[in-house]
Amino acid sequence: MQLRDKIAMVTGAGSGLGREISLAFAREGARVFATDIDARSAAETASECARATAGAVSCRCDVADSHSVKEAFARLDEAMGGIDVLVNNAGIVHSEPAYLEHVNRTQAQQIAETMAGGPITTHWRTIELLTDEMFDRMLRVHLHGTFYCTREALPRMRAQGRGGRIVNMGSIMGTASMLGAPDYCAAKGAILAFTRATAREAASYDVLVNAIAPGYVETPLLVNVEPATKQLIALQTPLRRLGEPADVAAAAVYLAGPGGKFVTGQVLSPNGGIHMSQ
Ligand SMILES: NC(=O)c1ccc[n+]([C@@H]2O[C@H](COP(=O)([O-])OP(=O)(O)OC[C@H]3O[C@@H](n4cnc5c(N)ncnc54)[C@H](O)[C@@H]3O)[C@@H](O)[C@H]2O)c1
Repeated sequence: MQLRDKIAMVTGAGSGLGREISLAFAREGARVFATDIDARSAAETASECARATAGAVSCRCDVADSHSVKEAFARLDEAMGGIDVLVNNAGIVHSEPAYLEHVNRTQAQQIAETMAGGPITTHWRTIELLTDEMFDRMLRVHLHGTFYCTREALPRMRAQGRGGRIVNMGSIMGTASMLGAPDYCAAKGAILAFTRATAREAASYDVLVNAIAPGYVETPLLVNVEPATKQLIALQTPLRRLGEPADVAAAAVYLAGPGGKFVTGQVLSPNGGIHMSQ
């Protein structure tokens, strides 16, 4: 029970990593405030959490919208009466069919050109294809969302006078980068920088701020990744597999729990060894 009676807010809690982190926190004794843009999935996560530890509550929250974030924190105040841990987890990847088709076709053509001994005559061009709206949404969900929730959590943690933990969801893409998603890489890189800046600022009132930078993890986020690509990723990974959500949830429990009490401004990267420097 590493998080007994801690109040933990998780964004994007309705699916994948957010759901698994919420459940792991509840199993460690935390009262989970599960939020998601999809109210129904957040509610499902909260009711699963409540089976492990009483007191879980759900709330719709679109992290990209500062009004929605303010409303969610008002509900948190009312329902939970405080906050000890914030997990800024909500995230997206591109799902626009034309964009995905371009990415898959470019990858297949470049592989074919490489296998044929080159030269590469098919170019990625994804930066040229990103519209203002696509770039803005990607940054807004990841970076603005992390900022909006952090801005609400910090004064509450300071006023409580018992410290706190913030765990931001980065990615190996924030440092290693990935073809086909320049805006996602930019958003994750910015989250890592924001994590360090927040850690420095909040240290004086004992709020510890860290990031998790997972490698590839089997969640609905990877729904458009071809099975052959996943096999290739597993082969390139020293531990020979993709991650499971529980691999990431264990890192979140560590950073939120007693074991992480001298850790701040750091990036913990459960990635099976595919990327060895953060
Ligand atoms: N799965 C991976 O391989 C992987 C790797 C590295 C980092 N990540 C990061 O982990 C986080 C969680 O991803 P996942 O794999 O669990 O994906 P997922 O798609 O399974 O879950 C994402 C959740 O975020 C919610 N969400 C989306 N937009 C939102 C918004 N505006 N406001 C609130 N909630 C919103 C979705 O409804 C969903 O429940 C993301 O930040 C993602 O970038 C994932």
